[in-house]
Amino acid sequence: MKKVLVIGSLNCDYVINLPKMPETGETLLCGGYELVPGGKGANQAYTLGKLGGSAAMLGAVGGDGPGAKLLDNLRSVEVDVSGIKTVTGVSTGTAFIFVDSSGSNSIIVAQGANLRVDEEYIRENDRLLRECDIVLLQLEIPIETVLYAAKRAKGLGKTVILDPAPARPDLPRELYRWVDYIKPNEVELGMLLGDSEAQNSLDESTAILQGLGVKNVVVTLGERGAFLREENGLTRAFPPVSGLRVVDTTAAGDSFTAALAYGLSAGSGLHEALELAICVSGLAVTKKGAQTSIPDMAEVRAYMQAHNKKL
Ligand code: RIB
Repeated sequence: MKKVLVIGSLNCDYVINLPKMPETGETLLCGGYELVPGGKGANQAYTLGKLGGSAAMLGAVGGDGPGAKLLDNLRSVEVDVSGIKTVTGVSTGTAFIFVDSSGSNSIIVAQGANLRVDEEYIRENDRLLRECDIVLLQLEIPIETVLYAAKRAKGLGKTVILDPAPARPDLPRELYRWVDYIKPNEVELGMLLGDSEAQNSLDESTAILQGLGVKNVVVTLGERGAFLREENGLTRAFPPVSGLRVVDTTAAGDSFTAALAYGLSAGSGLHEALELAICVSGLAVTKKGAQTSIPDMAEVRAYMQAHNKKL
């Protein structure tokens, strides 16, 4: 089993379930809220651990109760959290998540300690970069840190996976050169390419990203599955899972990317790893919350066997 290092955010999620999203100026009432461990980076590290992978994480929490709980949750699935720093006097990242009755969400993140994940800290933890095989990045920490980590990882000959979420239109172009796998959803893909490219087909859009230097492009399409453009230029559509009821899409993308990394770390081919990722994220959206929704390998195996999918 290869080692995966996740570099990213940890958030305490305040989740509010609503029949519909609030309009501007509208006040909605709800019964209560739930506190759930989240953060795109932590969700990915947790998924890797829960599936039985070998994962370590670099990131930061505040010196508060939510930070300690986030670390405990990662430890519960044997993620190596020894490199995660605790910054006193700063609050742990906090996400405010609204989920409507269709399972769609709107999220606001108060970044807190995640903003302290700087280049110097990554340099101090270079040992973890050297010891891993795959580096998994998202965009909830400073972009300069993402750039540095991707470049350093590539320089060390590691495989770099970038989940470009939350999407931003100003992603530095040079970043693409260090990325082996990028995994936007359709909205993120549109943002990465800018409005002028919005009308392109998946085939064209993924070719543009590849032209910028990314080796493999995977676009998640929600209920339509996923689309892959491989390093050799071949493309392939992957069907979605069937027979699952969407309850909450939070962490669908995180669990997909982490399962892809898990599959590659376990020696699967890219197509197999993507089949796994589709199942893992499909199962994750059947439950509420971020890390609370991640399936273990027994659940994944049972689903895949029942649907004649190869694991
Ligand atoms: O991708 C889902 C995550 O986005 C949530 O857990 C929340 O913390 C935000 O980072």
